[in-house]
Amino acid sequence: MIDPFGRSITYLRVSVTDRCDFRCVYCMAEDMTFLPKSDLLSLEELERLAGVFVGLGVRKLRLTGGEPLVRRGVMALINRLGLRLGHGLDELTLTTNGSQLGRFAEELVAAGVRRINVSVDTLDADKFAAITRWGRLPQVLDGVMAAKAAGLKVKINTVALKDVNEGEFDAMLAWCGQHGFDLCLIETMPLGEIDGDRLEQYLPLSVVRTRLARNWTLRPTDYATGGPARYFDVAETGTRLGFITPLTHNFCEGCNRVRLTCTGTLYMCLGQNDAADLRAVLRSSDDDAVLRDAIVAAIARKPKGHDFVIDREHNRPALARHMSVTGG
Ligand code: GTP
Ligand code: 5AD
Ligand code: SF4
Repeated sequence: MIDPFGRSITYLRVSVTDRCDFRCVYCMAEDMTFLPKSDLLSLEELERLAGVFVGLGVRKLRLTGGEPLVRRGVMALINRLGLRLGHGLDELTLTTNGSQLGRFAEELVAAGVRRINVSVDTLDADKFAAITRWGRLPQVLDGVMAAKAAGLKVKINTVALKDVNEGEFDAMLAWCGQHGFDLCLIETMPLGEIDGDRLEQYLPLSVVRTRLARNWTLRPTDYATGGPARYFDVAETGTRLGFITPLTHNFCEGCNRVRLTCTGTLYMCLGQNDAADLRAVLRSSDDDAVLRDAIVAAIARKPKGHDFVIDREHNRPALARHMSVTGG
């Protein structure tokens, strides 16, 4: 699948639930209304859709949420999708908050998952509870260590928050280095109404990089996962440090991905509203050719990029949709 800007679409992110056991302050309001379960695609429907995408050239599948591992029966879906590895699919992975990894790490490996991304914004338990609103850091770190012990390659995602975790990045990089984890710092993106003030939380990563470069030898590298991060090798740790900078340095020209929500809506861009209702198509016919046509037609509308800005004047989100709808 090639979009109108010549970009090849090989990466599908599938949000399997909009629910989460945490409520990170930059992601959700404390009081969220989640979708009724009857709106969700069944696991069989998700599998069918993902299979059609793989048939169309998608080589990397990432399950997201909300928190993907709180969807009931998700392991059955992961096992089924794993059967496609080596048959068109190169990578099956997920982005998780880690809370359920203690339970699932070994099963994930058995299903063919080799690498996972885990969100950890701080190594301070009180701060962690404040950011996630009630998450328990020890449970997440136990999950991360279970993933490591099971042989999964771990990347830690940290959303950079001014005055909240900005003093901790050296410590996080050292901790990641000790355990052999790559670390990705992420600029907070203006999606969905949250209770906090995004302007107050926003921290440009250009500033962070300059600060980190005083203490660490950061060497630019061509290492790429097909995701949006720009990586540096960290000489002192032998691990990598990535920066995801939608606001200070947009990476849309290399975009290779689209996003499917748990209700079967396909978003062509995280930062735009245009979407295609694949659930209606899926339920209208058993013929995958009809689905293929609908997907190809949607890809033909993929926009050039997002236009996130920090709206200092009005201080409101660029999009009403929460990050948890598309899983980032
Ligand atoms: P890798 O395969 O390890 O590169 O993962 P990834 O970066 O593709 O996925 P992950 O779920 O870890 O996402 C990290 C951050 O990147 C999240 O905050 C996502 O919202 C953000 N992200 C991923 N793709 C895009 C994109 O196309 N546009 C924007 N603005 N952000 C994105
Ligand atoms: N801006 C940037 N990153 C976000 N994430 C969730 N909400 C936001 C936001 N508003 C991150 C999570 C997770 C990834 C999927 O997206 O921390 O690591
Ligand atoms: Fe849940 Fe992830 Fe959103 Fe935090 S960022 S509330 S862990 S979906």
